Amino acid sequence: MIVCRSASELERMRDAGRLVAEVLTELAAHVAPGVTTADLDALAEKRIENAGATAAFKGYHGYPATICASINEEVIHGIPSGRRVLNEGDVISIDVGAALGGYYGDSAITLPVGQVSEQAALLLRATEEALYKAIEVVRPGRRISDIGHAVQKHVEAYGFSVVREFVGHGIGQRMHEEPQVPNYGDPGRGPRLAEGMVLAIEPMVNAGKPAVKVLADGWTAVTRDTSLSAHFEHTVAVTADGPWILTAREVPVPVR
Ligand code: CO
Repeated sequence: MIVCRSASELERMRDAGRLVAEVLTELAAHVAPGVTTADLDALAEKRIENAGATAAFKGYHGYPATICASINEEVIHGIPSGRRVLNEGDVISIDVGAALGGYYGDSAITLPVGQVSEQAALLLRATEEALYKAIEVVRPGRRISDIGHAVQKHVEAYGFSVVREFVGHGIGQRMHEEPQVPNYGDPGRGPRLAEGMVLAIEPMVNAGKPAVKVLADGWTAVTRDTSLSAHFEHTVAVTADGPWILTAREVPVPVR
């Protein structure tokens, strides 16, 4: 069953989403050569705690940290570590989830560390653009598969590829609710979107082939061909007036 949220529930989800956005903005300001992914995790943990919220990922199926920090060929679910130091030229996906007042927010951005290659910069741009193309679809009457179709069309025009093994999701009083939201496929399939539905849309895009595998740590997903990967995510509500990005950042983060 796909839950439709009332206007007052959506306001509370915006509060959760705003917190996630503020955490991402703060982390983005700290991304630099020499910083470890554990440093970023500690910052996020403190910020979420100070807001009276709960880190959504920590303890989720045993996940050990507050954020996911996925560098270069890592696609998603990279586990923060004090031994993982950011280097000039890396790209890092930072994924943050929090629960506030009983509702969840979930959002991710991929950032360049210092100066990155032209291909890396293009990959980040294409992936973020694909997210916004997908968000444009979030309107009453459209269908779930229209979202993935928009992502795939945009990404493949650049010669990049869409990861198939992981999908976006409904979100609300749990982090993962129905429906699943794939990032590829034909349009016109699946449930129709209706006012009050809330979706976490999260395209994962590889510079090379689409195949991924999970490392021995049981979490980190990497590209099989070791090509670079990017990931952007927003929590978005369907409203009569169009998409409402609940994790919108009020201070723009220079992601490219
Ligand atoms: Co998500």
